Amino acid sequence: MKIGILTSGGDAPGMNAFISKFTNLALKAGHEVVAFKFGYQGLIDNSAKTLTREDVSNIAHLGGSNIKSTRSSEFLTKQGFRRAIQNIKLNEIDCLIVLGGDGTLRGAKELSAAGIKVVYIPATIDNDLFYTEQTLGFDSAVNAAVDAIDKIKQTMLSLNRIFICEVMGRHCPDIAISSAIATDATILITEAKQFSFKETISKIKEAIGDGEEAPSVIIRENILDVFELAKKIQNELDIETRACRIGYVQRGTAPSVMDRILARKFAKFALELISSKKFSRAIGQVGNKIKSKNLSEI
Ligand code: F6P
Repeated sequence: MKIGILTSGGDAPGMNAFISKFTNLALKAGHEVVAFKFGYQGLIDNSAKTLTREDVSNIAHLGGSNIKSTRSSEFLTKQGFRRAIQNIKLNEIDCLIVLGGDGTLRGAKELSAAGIKVVYIPATIDNDLFYTEQTLGFDSAVNAAVDAIDKIKQTMLSLNRIFICEVMGRHCPDIAISSAIATDATILITEAKQFSFKETISKIKEAIGDGEEAPSVIIRENILDVFELAKKIQNELDIETRACRIGYVQRGTAPSVMDRILARKFAKFALELISSKKFSRAIGQVGNKIKSKNLSEI
C-alpha cells in the first residue's frame, strides 16, 4: 500500500517517535510511506515526499515534527479541500494517517466523509479529546511545565516571593491540574468563572500564615492577564509577586518516556488497522488499552 502521513496544527512531543516507528514498521511490511509536509496545507500544495529509513532514523527522541505542521485556513475552504482530495488521488494514496489535535480530527472526519481512507492519531499537548484518556504529547508537556515551575519556585523561595505560572492547554484544564498537583501549588485556576480575586488573596494570606514561603498560583492560559494579576496581588499584600507564562517549552520539549512508549503503541496499532483494512478510525487509549473508534462517532 501507499500510505500518506501528515502532522497538522500545533506540534506535539511524540509525533516524531510515531513517524519513526510507524514508517519503520510499514517499510518492513512492504508498504510505501509518503509524507505530506506542512499538514493539510501540504495536501493542497502537493508536498508529497517518500520517506526512507534514513529520513526517520534518530528522530524518535526529538520534540516537534520533522515532517512540519501548519494550521491551514485554506483547507477549510471548499476550493482548498477539493485540491487536497485531488492531490491525494493524484499521488495514488491508499490511506492517510493524520496526527494532531481537535482541528486535525475535524479535518480527518471531513476527508473520511469525502471517501478518503483515514486513520487519526490524537497528538496534542492539550489532552482535550474526550474519547481517549491520553493524547500524545500531554505527558511531555506536563513534565516540561513541572520542571519549569520547580526551577521558578527555587528562585521565588530565595526571595520569599509570591509567584504565578500560566501553563498551556488552550481551554482544557489538564496541564494546569497535573502541574498544580505535582508542584503542590497553593492555588489552581482552571476556569474564568471560578476565579475570585478576594478568595485568591485570602488563600495566599492563609498559606503564608501556615508558614508557606513562596505561595504559588498555577493558572490555565486564556483566562486572565497574569502580569496584571501579579501587580494587583503585590499592591494588595505588599509582598513582591512575579508572573511567568511558561509557554512553548511545554510544546517543544523532548517526548517523555511515557509519550515515546505511547507513540510506539499507536504506531503498531495503526499498522494493524491498516493491514486489516479498517479505516475511518481514530486511535486512542481507553482503560489503559489501545483501541479505535469510528471517526463518525466522535
Ligand atoms: O493546541 C496546542 C497549543 O500549544 C495550545 O496549548 C496553545 O493554546 C496553542 O497551541 C498555541 O498555538 P499557536 O502556537 O498556533 O499560537
